[in-house]
Amino acid sequence: MKFKTLKGVQDILPPDISIWQQIEAASRAIFKTYGYQEIRLPIIESTDIFIRSIGETTDIVEKEMYTFQDKGGRSVTLRPEGTASFVRAYVEYHLYNEPPPQKFYYMGPMFRYERPQAGRYRQFYQIGAEAMGVEDPKLDAEIIAMLSKILKSIGLAGLNFEVTSIGCKECRPDYREALKNFLHDKLSGFCNDCQRRFELNPLRILDCKVPDCINLRKGAPSVIAYLCADCKEHFEKLKHYLGMLKVPHTINPNLVRGLDYYTKTAFEVTSESLGAQKAVAAGGRYDGMVDDFGGPPTPGIGFAIGMERIIPLIRDSIGKPETPDLLICPLGQEASEKGLLFAEQLRTRGLWVEANYESTSLKSQMRKANRIGAKNIIVLGEDELKKGEVLVKDMISGTVTKTSLDTGELAKIIRGEK
Ligand code: HAM
Repeated sequence: MKFKTLKGVQDILPPDISIWQQIEAASRAIFKTYGYQEIRLPIIESTDIFIRSIGETTDIVEKEMYTFQDKGGRSVTLRPEGTASFVRAYVEYHLYNEPPPQKFYYMGPMFRYERPQAGRYRQFYQIGAEAMGVEDPKLDAEIIAMLSKILKSIGLAGLNFEVTSIGCKECRPDYREALKNFLHDKLSGFCNDCQRRFELNPLRILDCKVPDCINLRKGAPSVIAYLCADCKEHFEKLKHYLGMLKVPHTINPNLVRGLDYYTKTAFEVTSESLGAQKAVAAGGRYDGMVDDFGGPPTPGIGFAIGMERIIPLIRDSIGKPETPDLLICPLGQEASEKGLLFAEQLRTRGLWVEANYESTSLKSQMRKANRIGAKNIIVLGEDELKKGEVLVKDMISGTVTKTSLDTGELAKIIRGEK
C-alpha cells in the first residue's frame, strides 16, 4: 500500500527547508530588535476559544475548522490561527501583569479545511506577532513598520500595504444599520449564507466570495464614513505615524478581514505577483478580546505572515543552501577508516564534513563531490597516510594546498585562514 500526504497538506523537504529557515532566522533577528519574545502555543485547543473570538458566522468557524471530539468527549479544534490561542495564554498566565507593551511572536502550523489551490493549504504555516496593553496608534504604526522590515529583509519587494479602520463597538452599530439598509432590497439576490448572515452579522456579507454577492454589494457604504470620533482620531494618527516611519501604504476602505475580533486598525499586505491568494500577511487590532476571554480590558494588535505565500516570491532570489565544507575521499580500507576518524575530529571544530564510507573509484568520488557541492576535498590514499601529508583541493577556485595530516591545520585551510 502506498501512503500519500492528505489533500492541501505538504511536506517541506530540502532544499526548500533552507529557505524556510532563512525566513525564520531573519524574522527572529528583527523581532529581537523590537523586543518581541517567542511563545510556543498548543496546536490543539478547546473549540469554544475559536468560536468566541473568530466569530460564529465567519467562514473559518462555520466551514473550515478541524473540530472533533476527543476520547473524553470534549470538542477540540486544530488551531485555524494563532491570535485566539495567544489571548487564551495571555489571560491564563496573567501576562498582563508585565509592563506593557507585552510583545510576543510565534511560528507554526495552522489548519483550515479550505478548498486547496495555489497558495491555499489546509495545513499552512504562519509567523505571527502580538503586542498587548497599548492603545496608542504609535504601536499600530510600529508593528506595521516591523512587518515591513521583516518582509523587506527576506527580499520581498513590490508589496502593497493596505490599511483601514473598521471601527469599534461604539460606531459599529450605526454602520451595521447603514449596511443593512443598503442590502435590504437586494437581499433575495444574495447566496443563502449571506441571507442567513443578514440578521446575525451583516458585516460578514462583505467577505462573501460568491461572484453574484460581490456584484450586488458594489456601492455599499464604507465603514470609514461611520467611524466615531475616537476611531477617526486613531486612524488619522496612524496614517501620520506610518508616513513618519516611511511605510508606503494605501488606504483601502473596502478591506474586509475574515475574522470578527478586529477593532479599529486592520491591514493586509498583498503581492500582485501572486494569483488569487495574494495576501502574504495580515493583521489588526483586537481591543475587546482579552476582556471577552475573562481578562482585564486590554488592547491588543498583531499580524501573521503566511509562509507558503512568500516562499514562491523569493525562491529564486534567496541565497543558495549550505553545502559541505569538506568531502574526504579515501582510497583503500585503511584510508576509509582513517577518514572516519578525521571527519569526526574536524566536525568537533565546527566544520561540515562528509566522509565516504566505502572506498570506491576516485572518479565516482569526484562525481559525488560535485553532486553534493563539496567546497573542498582531500584524497586519502596509502601515500598520504605514509607521508602524513595531504592535498586540500578548493573545488571553487581550484587551488590546491599541501598540509600535514593535522586536523587543526586542515581546519584553518578549509576556513581560508591559511
Ligand atoms: P489571516 O488573514 O486569517 O489572519 O491569516 C494571515 C495570513 O495567513 C494570510 O494573509 C495568508 O498569508 C496566510 N493564510 C491564511 N490562510 C491560509 C491558507 N489556507 N493557506 C496558506 N496561507 C494562508 C490571521 O490568521 C490573524 N490571526 C492575524 C493576526 C494576528 N491578527 C492579529 N494578530
